[in-house]
Amino acid sequence: MTETSPPPVRRIRITDFYAAKRQHDRWAMLTSYDQYTAELFDEAGVWALLVGDSAANNVYAYETTLPITVAELLPLVRAVVKSTKRAFVIADLPFGSYEDGPSQALQTAIRFMKEGGCHAVKFEGGVRVAHQIRKVVDAGIPVMGHIGFTPQSEHRLGGYRVQGRGDDSARLLADAHAVAEAGAFAVVLEMVPGDLAGQVTAELDIPTVGIGAGADCDAQVLVWQDMAGLRRGRLQRFVKQYANLAKIIGDAAAAYVEDVRSGTFPSEQHTFASTIPTSEAKS
Ligand code: KIV
Repeated sequence: MTETSPPPVRRIRITDFYAAKRQHDRWAMLTSYDQYTAELFDEAGVWALLVGDSAANNVYAYETTLPITVAELLPLVRAVVKSTKRAFVIADLPFGSYEDGPSQALQTAIRFMKEGGCHAVKFEGGVRVAHQIRKVVDAGIPVMGHIGFTPQSEHRLGGYRVQGRGDDSARLLADAHAVAEAGAFAVVLEMVPGDLAGQVTAELDIPTVGIGAGADCDAQVLVWQDMAGLRRGRLQRFVKQYANLAKIIGDAAAAYVEDVRSGTFPSEQHTFASTIPTSEAKS
């Protein structure tokens, strides 16, 4: 290795998240569900990739996250893990795969670790899933918590609503502490008022990962199709769109259709020449 060689690429580990919290270094997480985005995000320096159950409405075209299954998520987890060198990959446990109790949560988490090769799992809920978190962590599997708005409970919560406003802040704080005390290495705060998210971040020793939770969280996460403008329609207020992939891909597809229709594609450049000498080809 010469003096100018870059340091070897190595996997992010949970100890890096703890160190970043101590040093007040912010880091970014994105969802990813496939090979190419995983490669690009890994190279772009995204520390953590979440193979979210949001694949339900960003890959499988379900209306909510409720229908997606372990069998549908596992191959996506495997693809993302295989396509990264550096990012810490977290698999989301789908609705119905952990609520029944600690043993169900552990069995599902083990499947994702063994068959998906991921580095951690995430599941939704605070106080109500603390026993599940403890059981999975005690088996040696890092768990990321997820509190505030939890999409798998959208029907009980009455739709996509900010959580922890007013008197509800006590419930959110109790959830945050329950998740941390149960041994989670980090916790997602979704759609939580910025000042309350700041308080949680200051009170917990583990990193908070905000999505619609303001600037005081230790890290931020977005669904990649929102971040890159592939998903169309109304965006949540907390989304910042960094590109307009829907337009770029739509324009490319329309140009291709037109080229095929007009006979411009394929041209000679895209066509294989015959390997048979012309005289033989004629005989
Ligand atoms: O599944 C998902 O994409 C998530 C994020 C919104 C945190 O849980």
